[in-house]
Amino acid sequence: MSTWELRLILIGIILLLVYLRYRKSRKRFLELGAKLPGPFSLPVVGNILPFAMRPDDCMEIGMKFCIEFNNGPIRFWFLNELIVFVAKPQDVEILFSNMKHLRKPWQYRLLKPFMGEGLFTNSDNAMWRLHRKMITPAFHFSILKGFLPIFFQEANIFASKIKCGEEVDVFPMLGLCALDIICRTAMGANVHSQDGKGKEFVKGMETLLQIAHWRLVKPWMINDTIFSMLPLKKKHDEGLKNVFRFTESVIQEKRQKLNSKKSKCNNNNNNNNNEEKNDDKYFLGERALPFLDLMMAMDTDEMHLTDEQLRDEAITIIIGGQETTTTELTFTLLMLAIHQNVQAKVLEEIDLVFGSDLSHTPTIEDLQKLEYLERVLKEVMRLYPSIPYFARVLEEEVTLSNYTLPKDCIVTIFSYGLHRHPESFPDPDRFDPDRFLPEHCRSRSPFAFIPFSAGPRNCIGQKYAMLQMKTVISTVLRHFRLS
Ligand code: HEM
Repeated sequence: MSTWELRLILIGIILLLVYLRYRKSRKRFLELGAKLPGPFSLPVVGNILPFAMRPDDCMEIGMKFCIEFNNGPIRFWFLNELIVFVAKPQDVEILFSNMKHLRKPWQYRLLKPFMGEGLFTNSDNAMWRLHRKMITPAFHFSILKGFLPIFFQEANIFASKIKCGEEVDVFPMLGLCALDIICRTAMGANVHSQDGKGKEFVKGMETLLQIAHWRLVKPWMINDTIFSMLPLKKKHDEGLKNVFRFTESVIQEKRQKLNSKKSKCNNNNNNNNNEEKNDDKYFLGERALPFLDLMMAMDTDEMHLTDEQLRDEAITIIIGGQETTTTELTFTLLMLAIHQNVQAKVLEEIDLVFGSDLSHTPTIEDLQKLEYLERVLKEVMRLYPSIPYFARVLEEEVTLSNYTLPKDCIVTIFSYGLHRHPESFPDPDRFDPDRFLPEHCRSRSPFAFIPFSAGPRNCIGQKYAMLQMKTVISTVLRHFRLS
């Protein structure tokens, strides 16, 4: 036997030992994984191919598996990673009732180039808890109430850009409207993107989210070194530059505003002039503060936020408030145009609440009266959830209704499939807002419909989103009929 042959045999034995050791250390993990139902998986690549080959059809593919495996759990192998899709209310309830599973899996790292360690992507539980506690008061109802005039003004600007009888692509226009709204409310900075200023940000954001999705389903793009060699990296960096430039300018404008208010206040105090009342909602006083003010206030408190952390949280809130509501607003207008009977009922309700006075700014009480519109928005979010799946890492074994999932596996809550589960929503593809009548909701699990997720890492902006969407849709319908 030659030395080469001996070397080859030695390498083969070493590889076999490493593999056996790996299997032994993951024995329980692999055993439990093998018991789960799922599609046939190829050696090495597992089940990645259908998703990687058609990255833009992932919802359709996921839905096909959901139907085939009766809403899960469904086992997928992505290389050596066990990913389990869950889309049954009773399973979702078990997962979210356990406070231990807060950690988001490494795949969220793909959002980190732009969202950094903001709330959405933060993988350090202690830091996440601290930031969540600090930011939560910024979404208090008393603050949200003060945002209604801004929602209304920006919705009116959006309406003013539309001409009666003309066909318009509302998606990009709503994107700018939602961007102005989130910047003026949560950030306290007016960026006038509806007047042509924020297009690069929106475009950049779209590019970054799309590339993150592609990298998720095309494993050869996940590795940063390989990704940096692809032509897509240039597009990615351009998007990143635009998003950072925009966010930094928002923070800058906010800082200047705060500084000038502070010095004005100091002057007033020095001159003993109490005439000017502190009625600026952005000012640091005893009242609860909007998001960016809170974050900046932390700069001077015992907890210091670096500029980078501030930017991460700001981008997270801008994306959270902009991308999601834009999608839902667009689908709502589309559904209303398609379902004229539903539109007629919404119009009737709006007429009752606002009459013909186009200048009346909606109050909280007005918006609460728009019960049918609320059902329409919920039905839109059921069928077209803007975040159609989200994932957690299991910190310990979990027994679902009929299977046990191993510690360390990644559970993907596939809300797109959950919301179309025929046991919760008969004839699931039919658009029917009355599914959300109180009597129907009562007979359903609260975990059958979770567009804002559930548990401790649920959406911090859900009340904000509902008020914003109700204001924008009702304002549009006070001006136009959709067809
Ligand atoms: C229709 C609108 C919205 C939908 C459907 C939505 C949906 C969601 C979902 C499903 C999650 C959980 C994601 C996960 O677990 O990975 C989430 C988290 C989050 N959302 Fe929303 N969202 C909406 C609007 C907003 C708004 C308006 C804001 C802010 C102004 C916002 C800020 C956030 C933040 C910061 C998180 C991360 C929370 C944490 O991990 O502590 N969202 N959202």
